Amino acid sequence: MILSALSPLLRVPLLANLTRDSLLKMDAETAHGATINALRLGLAPEQDYPDPPELKTTLAGLELKSPIGMAAGFDKNGEVPRPLALMGFGMVEIGTVTPRPQTGNPKPRLFRVGTAEGVINRMGFNNDGHDEVYRRLSGVRIPAALGVNIGANKDSADFTSDYARGVARFARIADYLTVNISSPNTPGLRDLQQEDSLKRLLYAVLTVRSKSPVRVPVFLKIAPDLDEVGLDAIAKVVADTDLDGLIISNTTITRDAVAGLENAGEKGGLSGKPLFDLATIRLAQMRQRTSLPIIGVGGIHSPDTALAKFEAGANAIQLYSALVFGGLDLLDRIKRGLAAAVRNAGKTNIAELVGTKTAEWAARR
Ligand SMILES: Cc1cc2nc3c(=O)[nH]c(=O)nc-3n(C[C@H](O)[C@H](O)[C@H](O)COP(=O)(O)O)c2cc1C
Repeated sequence: MILSALSPLLRVPLLANLTRDSLLKMDAETAHGATINALRLGLAPEQDYPDPPELKTTLAGLELKSPIGMAAGFDKNGEVPRPLALMGFGMVEIGTVTPRPQTGNPKPRLFRVGTAEGVINRMGFNNDGHDEVYRRLSGVRIPAALGVNIGANKDSADFTSDYARGVARFARIADYLTVNISSPNTPGLRDLQQEDSLKRLLYAVLTVRSKSPVRVPVFLKIAPDLDEVGLDAIAKVVADTDLDGLIISNTTITRDAVAGLENAGEKGGLSGKPLFDLATIRLAQMRQRTSLPIIGVGGIHSPDTALAKFEAGANAIQLYSALVFGGLDLLDRIKRGLAAAVRNAGKTNIAELVGTKTAEWAARR
């Protein structure tokens, strides 16, 4: 779905019809498959300039060339982390991966809300499972931080142990792990965000991490649909652990931002532009409750919205849906825009803009 990334394909007769417009005309999941294939074939452009020094970031001990990552769900099976890194992402998060392979929900399960630049998905963790993805990633050189996002099988008798297995499996090859308890498409998964379940889950996950030969940073990815009481509970639980950071947020089950628009009635999680305000408000509200590193995700679609995430309190950002509508030059524009914002503020690094507008964002409703 990285559409303008495909413009060099115009020189490749076989794939010449994979322009941004033609991808937007295809069924959304077919278009996504075509994009993954194009990346696998090495047809994406590579970034040909060094990242601006203003964007160099340390995140939970990770040294990042830039704090802009590909969010989970784009490369669920770890097929194209290297091309994504070469395109210029400072982190690439693959997954969600579950212990056993699973097919996910019946198709269609991915929809565009085109007029709002939103996406609704109810994929349901379709993926190849731990063993296959581990095998695929082993030995691949990825010039970016590799995140592995782990989850639970839909029919698992014990969600917590699925996450523990994910840590055991990927701790050695991932630069960081994400414990994803916020997908709306696996029934019961988001209940893990409740205080007692979360305590048990993090205890199990971090105990396994403590036994792995390297200390891989672990992030927890949460939903934007939590209220402030829910955020309080999470902040309280994580304060008593050695979790490394939070990712805020996953998709929303709310539809206020797309009411009456095409596909708005489809079940699943909404992402893209219509998620931006909600996800940024939750990010700021969590920033007021924790000093842990936070990766801000949800609705970034321009240099300004990328900057807003940092101002709201993010230490790094990820994006996905906007690439469906905007194309890869978005990544380039965001980098240049952020670097310019740093300089215009009289600063030298993006870290100095983190949290400068947290209170403003947190107070929004
Ligand atoms: C088609 C699709 C599949 C996704 N799959 C996953 C997933 O497997 N695991 C996960 O943690 N997030 C998943 N996400 C959520 C994204 O990682 C991200 O949190 C969300 O889309 C908000 O960012 P965006 O508005 O930039 O897309 C998925 C999103 C989309 C659109």
